[in-house]
Amino acid sequence: MERISEEEEEEEEEKVLNPTTIKSTLKRRERDCMEEEEEDEDEDEDEDEDEVMSEVHLGCPPNFSGPHLSYFTFPTSLTLQQQQQQQESEIDDDDDAKGEGVISLDEDGDLLLTRRKPNKPSNNCRMTIQHNITSTIPSVGLQVWRAELALADFVLHGIFTSNKYDGITALELGAGTGLLGILLASVAKTVFLTDHGEDILDNCAVNVHLNSKIFENHQASVYVRELDWIKSWPPSVSADILTSQERYKYLWNPSEVEEAENASLLLAADVIYSDDLTDALFNTLRILMSRGSTKVLYLALEKRYNFSLHDLDIVANGYSHFQSYLQDEEECRQLGNGSLPCFVGKNIDLTDIPQYVREYDRETNIEIWQIKYLPSVSTS
Ligand SMILES: C[S@@+](CC[C@H](N)C(=O)[O-])C[C@H]1O[C@@H](n2cnc3c(N)ncnc32)[C@H](O)[C@@H]1O
Repeated sequence: MERISEEEEEEEEEKVLNPTTIKSTLKRRERDCMEEEEEDEDEDEDEDEDEVMSEVHLGCPPNFSGPHLSYFTFPTSLTLQQQQQQQESEIDDDDDAKGEGVISLDEDGDLLLTRRKPNKPSNNCRMTIQHNITSTIPSVGLQVWRAELALADFVLHGIFTSNKYDGITALELGAGTGLLGILLASVAKTVFLTDHGEDILDNCAVNVHLNSKIFENHQASVYVRELDWIKSWPPSVSADILTSQERYKYLWNPSEVEEAENASLLLAADVIYSDDLTDALFNTLRILMSRGSTKVLYLALEKRYNFSLHDLDIVANGYSHFQSYLQDEEECRQLGNGSLPCFVGKNIDLTDIPQYVREYDRETNIEIWQIKYLPSVSTS
């Protein structure tokens, strides 16, 4: 996440934290006449007002505020098959030509050239995603982040090479624009896209509508629902007495909560950027993953480095805090009940996952973790 720095009145020098840093217009009040506590509160508020920009949107029109439409393209399994067949037939043609070793001439003695077959029309799938180009930190879910696109590649690879996602129920935490869950809905039975805040959920719902062609043939159910990790699991449910107009549109009903608890797949992209939120997220996961069906979580993150005055070094503190939640599965199982319940994590080798989605740079600081929750074994 690229911080767009705050302007400090007493410091003439602008601090550039990252290449995509731009100045926010906010000014701080005079510090001298402020109480310590007030100052801390204001700093927090200022941080919330800072504008940040995802690197996915670097090509978007600068100084554009408000929602923008971007297109994300990836092959369908049909296109992949066609490309593979085409490559194979080209290899056969080349082999034939080489094998014969004969130069063909027409009746006038002119050389006959073997022409390559024209490329078949590409059948790529195109998603239209409404998003903001910059946002404040509390509204980062209005943008698309690179980890979401890396996780989309991972899910697409699963779709193209297996049927493990066919007909499943899945839930995405911190879904933001909803790109990943919508894509999964092309094969899943039910997908819950969860986030918090009405503006983010409204934007996600718009994207579900814009891309309904991807999943409507196969009649998947896609729900946009509020799940605030601070309030943990289970989320509040709507009272039966309320009419659909009266109830908050992103509220769950009891049967949806039950269905989500029986999901087999959880997804989360770029949700590790504040230690407090990481604590709240893992608290929610602990409850959600210990109820209903056994679940596996795939969590994609961008390992962000910052200079720490405390450590006088470049560190990835948020990443270290995230890792403090994870144990090694083998070790955990060997230690037995003494170390349970626990989260176990495995870093996935992304070199095995082709980049299907074109519109981003998959840099080496992006990681995908497979996370399971091992409950304690009851001895009674
Ligand atoms: C950096 S964005 C990532 C969005 C999307 N997954 C992506 O990668 O494009 C972090 C997401 O976490 C969500 N989030 C932050 N705090 C949350 C909370 N307390 N409960 C639920 N979601 C939260 C944000 O609203 C946002 O959608």
